[in-house]
Amino acid sequence: MHRLGILLSGRGSNFLAIHRAIADGRIHDAEIAVVISNKPEAGGLESARSLGLTAVAIPQQGKGPAAREAHDAAMIAALTDYGVELVCLAGYMRIITPAFVEAFPNRILNIHPSLLPAFPGLDAQHQAFDYGVKVAGCTVHFVDEAVDHGVIVLQKTVPVFDEDTAETLAARILEQEHLAYPEAISRVLSGRYQTIGRRYLPR
Ligand code: GRF
Repeated sequence: MHRLGILLSGRGSNFLAIHRAIADGRIHDAEIAVVISNKPEAGGLESARSLGLTAVAIPQQGKGPAAREAHDAAMIAALTDYGVELVCLAGYMRIITPAFVEAFPNRILNIHPSLLPAFPGLDAQHQAFDYGVKVAGCTVHFVDEAVDHGVIVLQKTVPVFDEDTAETLAARILEQEHLAYPEAISRVLSGRYQTIGRRYLPR
């Protein structure tokens, strides 16, 4: 059984999509070992508990670089304690430290609601909408030390319609996120891929 660790800060709809995909067999031989949030009030933690999953809040204590390091050390310790093999960032609203990336080399995935490298950072759907793009989408990528930057596993696109608002566009992207993340996790867990430079290639 592959043990997944989900990190989230908010409502957790991507976490729930991953949970459903495990339940209906789109992700094989995997289980969610733990759901961890930096925000004790995150809706995703509540959902995890009501599904009978282990859900833990690990808030940051204090401010500044030392507090960030200490927080990530606590996250790494928890993920290690729960035997996590693959870490899935699912709306985890923190930039992780290099020590965290090093603790799980090529074992951390993130989902971002734009077609990277366009529109990294916060509010990507609004950024794309305001820019006037005609095609938008989402990206699942490995996490490296730069923000929204690691090797891309897969992307899904959606059209932008003239009648759209940033909110209707974000909802259309979110539907694709819920398909993309399970698909990417399944591919990565299969181990049937290689990366050549920035290119992820199935094999
Ligand atoms: C998603 O749009 C995801 O792409 C971004 O944060 C949002 C999380 O939403 N990284 P949810 O908590 O999974 O519903």
